[in-house]
Amino acid sequence: MKFDTPAGQNPIDQLKVVGKPTDRIDGKYKTTGTAPYAYERHDVAANQAYGYVVGAGIAKGRVRRIDTSAAKRAPGVLAIVTTLEHPRMERGKMNAAYLFGGDEVQHYHQAIAVVVAETFEQARAAAFLVTIDYAPVSGQFDLAAEAKRAKPVPGDSGEGSGGNGEERVGDFEGAFAQAPVQFDETYSTADESHAMMEPHATIAAWDGDKVTLWTSNQMIAWGHGSLAKILGVPKENVRLDSPYVGGGFGGKLFVRADAVLAALGAKAARRPVKVALTRPLVMNNTTHRPATIQRVRIGATKDGTITAIAHESTSGNLPDGDPETAVNQTKLLYAGANRLTALKLAHLDLPEGNAMRAPGEAPGLMVLEVAMDEMAEKLGLDPVEFRIRNDTQVDPSDPKRPFSHRDLVGCLTRGAEKFGWSKRNAKPGQVRDGQWLVGLGMAAAFRNNMVMKSGARVRLDGSGTVTVETDMTDIGTGSYTIIAQTAAEMMGVPLDRVVVRLGDSAFPASSGSGGQFGGNSSTAGVYAACVKLREAVAQRLGINSADAVFVDGQVRAGNRAVPLGEAASKGELSAQDTIEFGDISKKQQQSTFGAHFVEVGVDADTAEIRVRRMLAVCAAGRILNPKSARSQVIGGMVMGTGAALMEELAVDTTRGFFANHDLAGYEVPVHADIPHQEVVFLDEVDTMSSPMKAKGVGELGICGVGAAVANAVYNATGIRVRNYPITLDKLLDRMPDAA
Ligand code: MOS
Repeated sequence: MKFDTPAGQNPIDQLKVVGKPTDRIDGKYKTTGTAPYAYERHDVAANQAYGYVVGAGIAKGRVRRIDTSAAKRAPGVLAIVTTLEHPRMERGKMNAAYLFGGDEVQHYHQAIAVVVAETFEQARAAAFLVTIDYAPVSGQFDLAAEAKRAKPVPGDSGEGSGGNGEERVGDFEGAFAQAPVQFDETYSTADESHAMMEPHATIAAWDGDKVTLWTSNQMIAWGHGSLAKILGVPKENVRLDSPYVGGGFGGKLFVRADAVLAALGAKAARRPVKVALTRPLVMNNTTHRPATIQRVRIGATKDGTITAIAHESTSGNLPDGDPETAVNQTKLLYAGANRLTALKLAHLDLPEGNAMRAPGEAPGLMVLEVAMDEMAEKLGLDPVEFRIRNDTQVDPSDPKRPFSHRDLVGCLTRGAEKFGWSKRNAKPGQVRDGQWLVGLGMAAAFRNNMVMKSGARVRLDGSGTVTVETDMTDIGTGSYTIIAQTAAEMMGVPLDRVVVRLGDSAFPASSGSGGQFGGNSSTAGVYAACVKLREAVAQRLGINSADAVFVDGQVRAGNRAVPLGEAASKGELSAQDTIEFGDISKKQQQSTFGAHFVEVGVDADTAEIRVRRMLAVCAAGRILNPKSARSQVIGGMVMGTGAALMEELAVDTTRGFFANHDLAGYEVPVHADIPHQEVVFLDEVDTMSSPMKAKGVGELGICGVGAAVANAVYNATGIRVRNYPITLDKLLDRMPDAA
C-alpha cells in the first residue's frame, strides 16, 4: 500500500480496540519470567556451548601476537577464535567500528578473541589464560582538547535527526549584533551508556552453510543484511530471531560482536554457541551516546521576539563515525528570521558513538531549553510565555512548508495550568520546605516523526483466529499489543483472537524499532496487510468488499452475517503487504511536541537533589495504546532525569576508555529517585502520518526533560550549571548561605 495522500476515514477510526488503554499482551510472560531472552533460549538448539569474549586491553594500536596455548589446554575448552586468524571483517553500513578480524585495535575492549567451552565458567577461566602482545600507539581521548581541531561535517542519526556541517537562514551574525537583548553561552553534555537491562546476547547454530542467530536486536532487517555481509554468507542462509528484547535504546540497532563471535565460535566448535557481552563490554565494546560541547546564541527584541538564533555542536567519534546531531531541533522549534546551525566532529579513539534514545534531540534540548530559560530570565519573561511568543506553525527555514500538526502551545498552556506553574516564584532560591530549597522548571519537548516502510503478513484460520507475522521487534515498548490492537480493529475480532509473532527474519521486513518510528510505521504495515485480508475474506464469502462490515467476529453485508472464520473453513487465508510512504512527509513537516514540568528539592546543606514531581504533556498524533504510551513517556522522563543528574561515562583520557563500565559506577535513576510522574496526551490525530494517524512517542518523553530538571535546580538554588550531569560537586561550593 502506498501512503501518499492524507488518510481519510478508515476502520481504525472506530476505536473499539485501538486507542483504549490496554495491558501488554506479553506482560504476563515478562512478569513470570517465561518470555525467554536470547541467552535463555535453551530449547532452540541442543548441546549449546559457551563463548566468552576477550576485549582489547589497549585503546589504539596493533595486536602483535595472541598466545592461546595455555587456554587451549584448560578444562572444557572446545575452540578459540582470534582476531589474527581472520582478515578484518566487513561492518554494517551504519557503523564506524569494525567488530572483529585483523590486527588493528580501534578502541578499548574491541573484541579480539572468543573462547568456547562446555560451561560459562570454563570459558571465562580460559579467557584469562590467553596472553596478548600489543603494539600500542597513542590516541586522542579528550573531546575538550580535540574540539579545536574539529571539522564541520554533515550528520545523520539514521533515525530522523540530521543536519549539515553548517546551515544558514538570513544573516545570523548581522541580526545577532543588532539584537537589543543577546545571549551567548557554551554547555557540555556527557558520554552516556544505553544501560539496558539485557546485555547483548546471541546463540548461533550452523546447519551446513546456513546459520541461525537467536539474538537481541531492534532492527531485524538491518541485522540480517549486516550479518550476511560480515560473515560473507548469502542473506538467504542467515536467519535472525529476536522475539523478546530486554531494552535497547539504540544500543541494539546494529548487530554487535556477540552475534559475530557466536557465529564464528559455533563454526569453530561445531556446536551451537551462546555469547553474552559482559557489562564492561556493553559499555566499551558497543556504542554509546557521544559527549557534546554546544554553544547557543539567541538575539531578541526587548519584548522577547527571537530575531537570531544559533546552535553549534561539537562531538567526537572514530574515523567514519557521525557527529551527534544535537542542533536538529533548533532548526524547527522556534521562529526567528536569522538562523545558524552547525555540527563539528573531532576525531576520538574512544568506542564508537552512535544513536541512543532521541539521538540529537536528547542532548540538543538539554542545552537549548536551558538556554531558553536563561534568555527568558534575561528578558524578564516567564519561560512558558517566552516559548509561546516564539512558536511557529511553519518550518522557519522554508515558510511555505507547514507542520502537519503542531500544538506546542497547547502542551505548554495545559501543562502550566495542571502543574500550578503560576505559583512559581521566578526569583531563584526563595522557596524553602524544611531542609529543602524548592524549585520549579519547565522545558519544551520536540522530536521529529519519521515514517518507515513496513511489511506484515496476516493469516486467518477456520476458528476465526488472526495471526500477524512481521519482523517488527518489541523492545519493551508494547509492539505486540498495538499490533494486536490494529489487527483486532481491522478484522472486527476481540484482542484474544489475535496472535502476534515478531522478530523473525523469516517474516516480512518491518520498520523495526528505532527513532520512535516503529509504533506508527509497523501498525500501518499491519493495517495494509489487513486491508488485503479483508478483501480476500469478502471475495471468499462472495461479498462485495466495499459493503463488508467486520464486527464482533462476523462479516456483515446487507442482512447477511457470517462468522469470520467461515471464510477460512476450506483453508487458511493469508495476505501480505507493505506500507510505503511517498513524499508526503517531505511536503509537510511531521514532528511531535511536548512540555515537561519538574519540581525539585535541593538540600540546603548537602546540595543533594531530589526530583519531587514531574509532568509531561504530549502532542503526538493518535495514541494507539494510552497505557503503553504512558509507560514510554515516563521511562523517557526517568532517562532524561538520569542525563540531567547522574549519567556520565567517565573518560580515562590517559588509557582511552570509559572507566565506570558497570552499573555500580555508571549510575542510572532507580525507583527512589523518581516519585510522582504524570503524563497527559492531547487528543489529536495526524492524517499526514499514516492510516493509523499516529506519530512516535517513545523518544519524545526524554526530549527536554533534562533541561526542565536543570531549570528547576536553578530556580531552587540560583546556581546555573552548564556542564551536565549536575552532580553535587558542581553545586556544593556555590550553594546559597543556609538560613
Ligand atoms: Mo533509536 S536511539 O533506537 O530509537
